[in-house]
Amino acid sequence: MTFRTLQSAVRNVFVIVVIAAFGTALADAQTPSSVRYDQQNRVFRIDAGGMTYAFGVNERSELQSIYWGGRLAESDPLPAAKSERELASFDSSATTTLQEFGGWGGGMYVEPALKVTFPDGNRDLVLHYVSHTMSKDGFVVTLKDISRDVFVELHYSVDETTGVLGRSAVIVNRTKEPLTIEKAAAASWNLPGGADYNLRYLSGRWAAEDTVNQQEIRPGKTVLESRRGSTGHQNSPWFAVERGHSNDEDTGDVWFGALAWSGSWSITVEQDQARQIRVTGGYNPFDFAYRLAPGEQLSTPVFYGGYSHHGIGGASRLLHRFELTRILPQAPKPRPRPVLYNSWEATEFNVDEAGQIKLAEKAASIGVERFVMDDGWFGQRKDDHAGLGDWYVNPQKFPHGLKPLIDKVHSLGMDFGLWVEPEMVNPNSDLYRKHPDWVLNFPGRPRSEARNQMVLNLARQDVRDYVFHFLDDLLNKNDIAFYKWDYNRNWSEPGWDAVATDQQKEVYVKYVENLYSILRELRARHPKVEIESCSGGGGRVDLGILGLTDEVWPSDNTDPFDRLTIQDGFSYAYTPGVMMAWVTDSPNWGNRRTTSVEYRFLSSMQGSLGVGANLDKWTPEDFAVAKDMIAAYKEVRETVQHGSLYRLISPQHDSEYSATESVSLDKRQAVLFTFLHSSSKGYPFPTVHLRGLDPARQYRLRAIHDAKAAGAPEVASGSYWMAHGINVLLRGDFQAAGFILEDAAGR
Ligand code: GLA
Repeated sequence: MTFRTLQSAVRNVFVIVVIAAFGTALADAQTPSSVRYDQQNRVFRIDAGGMTYAFGVNERSELQSIYWGGRLAESDPLPAAKSERELASFDSSATTTLQEFGGWGGGMYVEPALKVTFPDGNRDLVLHYVSHTMSKDGFVVTLKDISRDVFVELHYSVDETTGVLGRSAVIVNRTKEPLTIEKAAAASWNLPGGADYNLRYLSGRWAAEDTVNQQEIRPGKTVLESRRGSTGHQNSPWFAVERGHSNDEDTGDVWFGALAWSGSWSITVEQDQARQIRVTGGYNPFDFAYRLAPGEQLSTPVFYGGYSHHGIGGASRLLHRFELTRILPQAPKPRPRPVLYNSWEATEFNVDEAGQIKLAEKAASIGVERFVMDDGWFGQRKDDHAGLGDWYVNPQKFPHGLKPLIDKVHSLGMDFGLWVEPEMVNPNSDLYRKHPDWVLNFPGRPRSEARNQMVLNLARQDVRDYVFHFLDDLLNKNDIAFYKWDYNRNWSEPGWDAVATDQQKEVYVKYVENLYSILRELRARHPKVEIESCSGGGGRVDLGILGLTDEVWPSDNTDPFDRLTIQDGFSYAYTPGVMMAWVTDSPNWGNRRTTSVEYRFLSSMQGSLGVGANLDKWTPEDFAVAKDMIAAYKEVRETVQHGSLYRLISPQHDSEYSATESVSLDKRQAVLFTFLHSSSKGYPFPTVHLRGLDPARQYRLRAIHDAKAAGAPEVASGSYWMAHGINVLLRGDFQAAGFILEDAAGR
């Protein structure tokens, strides 16, 4: 069941709202004070973090949104829900009334949350409130169709600290016939009406992920989606909606949401004919059908949503905090990410024992803590034409197995990680020759290849078992601390002919459920193993996969300047604590841009630092700078990875400048990274005004490596650094400087 499995995947320890059964006021001992039910008005109300969220049962028994926004006083009354009138005869009340979770029926034209077809041809579904209950998972409101025994359980959970809500639905068929679900959203989020709103969303492609888009919400719909079988590079399952448009990152009212699902998904942002804004998201209805036999149920992914009164900056910080404390497998206190080395850009497929050992020795000498061998170590893998699917160690490259390399890596004081791409197969592999039926395909149709590979149908139990066992086996037989789990193409011809025709489209759900179950079982059996989610860069980043992996690879684009915008976009939705960023070689392989080692390090130090360069070609000076930078990074990584991020100067829209600052939770340390694209006409770098410091505290300014600031005092108050600011000295092309501010009294 997706909801329960996802909930456990996200370590469902966060405070869960509990509601007393059947209309009684919430006074149960398990009930957090954040939740109240007004029995008289039939209003559910959640006050958590800086927000209040309320909905009620209207006079027709539909669940109707009442309020979502800044936190109200406890004494503030909220009225009973009352349905909206129709708009002339053309838009029924089912369309004008903001429902929490509307079935498609009764004359609804806006985006429904649920659409079904019954075997007798009936496609009308009108959901009414039946009851609400508490459970250890949260509070659940049960709806039922007005005449048929189709039930929908709406699950609500709330994180007390951030006010982030989790919403999902379980659709249960208690009729005597099967039915087909054609669309199942996790939730509809309805925004307060009567204002102009701006939408932010992320778009991209391979090597160009996470562009921040901003547009006024106009009548009609914007659909963010993936039809690719996995999360995809094209859009990220995240949105943020701002009331009006503040020019300041940290002011303004912002509503945001993120979908925890790593398969095809959609989020529809809609301004309806009455200018109301609704955001509905869940499984992508495109090519979707899920058959529910009598007694069966379908659970949707969880759609998380939150509100910030502190602008888009505040919204990101809430989401980062929520991910770190509630979503990640190591939540609420994830271990800091180790500095890693990865061999991919150095050797590509040409890995062997001697070459990897040489690189490992050099990596250890600069302070690397984890050595990761990338693609090329298995099967008959010489290039991307062969080998995927055959997960035995290549005997020519590693005649003694992986042990000598792993032992060497350990003796150098590092742990060992390995690249895998478990869901893929090359036609030129033993696996494909043995099991050609294991790939997604429509019999008799072409099987399109991408990067010479096909996608294994993980929805099949035999494929799931094969994948689990080889991954488990590798961990049993080798001392491996980390998997880089790659996924280098999207689906084509998504057929699953081993099941009945009317069940084949369930592949969109069952594939991802099996992916999650493999990750969950591996983690349970090998609690120390850490996993990175990679999909040709950032093609599989979402709150679902983040519940089961420790970090992600945001982009194959490792140019440090391009990375500034990719990383900036990434940070709108995801914490820098999971954002791997490698220092690679210059000129960059992708765009031939030349940058200094310092610049490359400072760009990567904004996230979770790694090195992916060919160390065999580095000069002694490169090694010296790297050692210095890695040492500095270790001093600040807790702040960068787990602190509060302020995007001070945006790199977006071809900005000449950019700056980010991270502040530790106790405000004793802050780190500033500044970047100049190119000086023009002798203008200085803009004064950087820090944010989020303790105004009364004295902070000492320290340069990372050889950074310089004009006229900056050694020690000054938080007020000084925020109000007066720092005049960073940067001149030329692709220049960068980093600074650390630390509590001067050492407190
Ligand atoms: C993908 C990854 C890279 C590298 C290659 C290996 O492109 O994103 O980092 O691992 O695969 O084939």
